[in-house]
Amino acid sequence: MRILWTIIISICCAEFTISYKPVVLLHGILSGSDSMSILKYEIEKNHPGTKVYNCDEFGGWFSLENAWKQVVQIKEYVQNISSNHPEGIHLIGYSQGGLLARAVIQSTPDHNIKKFISLSSPQAGQYGTSFLHLIFPDLAAKTAFELFYSKVGQHTSVGNYWNDPKKQELYYKYSVFLPYINNEIESSNSTFFKEALTKLEKLVLVGGPDDGVITPWESSHFGYFNESLEVVPVMKRDIYIEDKIGLKELNEQKKLIRITRDKVTHLMWHVVPSVIKEVILPYLD
Ligand SMILES: *[C@@H]1O[C@H](CO)[C@@H](O)[C@H](O)[C@H]1NC(C)=O
Ligand SMILES: *[C@@H]1O[C@H](CO)[C@@H](O)[C@H](O)[C@H]1NC(C)=O
Ligand SMILES: *[C@@H]1O[C@H](CO)[C@@H](O)[C@H](O)[C@H]1NC(C)=O
Repeated sequence: MRILWTIIISICCAEFTISYKPVVLLHGILSGSDSMSILKYEIEKNHPGTKVYNCDEFGGWFSLENAWKQVVQIKEYVQNISSNHPEGIHLIGYSQGGLLARAVIQSTPDHNIKKFISLSSPQAGQYGTSFLHLIFPDLAAKTAFELFYSKVGQHTSVGNYWNDPKKQELYYKYSVFLPYINNEIESSNSTFFKEALTKLEKLVLVGGPDDGVITPWESSHFGYFNESLEVVPVMKRDIYIEDKIGLKELNEQKKLIRITRDKVTHLMWHVVPSVIKEVILPYLD
């Protein structure tokens, strides 16, 4: 009798054991995997059994290296994990890491990434320098184009997604990264950049008005300044209307989720448990 009960209980419980897909974390600029350790802990605590991989590529100063260089290497890191988990994985990128992570997805046509969470990332570009004052104390957004829109400036990740609304000709001329992954400039990659993003089960874009670093904060949702420095929401921009990278298709299939939270500053998204619980955990399964 005891044995029978044991069998029955173990069958029942096995059925109720939820198994979560592995999660890969990608850190932001001028930091490394340790900055993501609270997020890793919160995922493991709330979703027991989840395997969390905290990517430590390009930590610290190396996070300033050219975006493509980082994308190619991080892609290898992610593909390695993917191949060990054919059931699929989830990817979370914070700040610059969310932009690099998206480029990783787009450059991997056969990826098995199911959910991608972009946690306050400059997906449509950045036009604010407060976060750079550690490296460039006097840098002003208005003149930063002189530094970033040059051959030298394009050796830095920030230069690669610097998007000056008043210097669009220079942005298109010099930027080797953002206008390409956003398919604002057509290239031989454009078709699969779109196809690969559209393969996601969910694209979750998280950001908010009190972020303080991502400028404009709407860039976290693919919104951006126009030349008069007024913010145009994503749905009114060409990237959406002309469906350049699949955002519209994802939205029509209810796979695009835009989350806005106020009272969350840039350094809170990945460390405050109540925020993590609200904007990240519901999308991991
Ligand atoms: C690939 O994954 C294996 C096992 O998880 C690990 O030992 C190896 O170092 C990884 N290789 C790279 C290039 O990340
Ligand atoms: C095309 O994508 C690859 C990564 O898959 C990248 O290395 C290359 O720079 C891209 N080329 C353009 C023009 O975007
Ligand atoms: C900029 O965007 C605002 C808000 O969408 C709009 O009212 C304005 O006409 C736009 N200006 C230009 C120059 O496109």
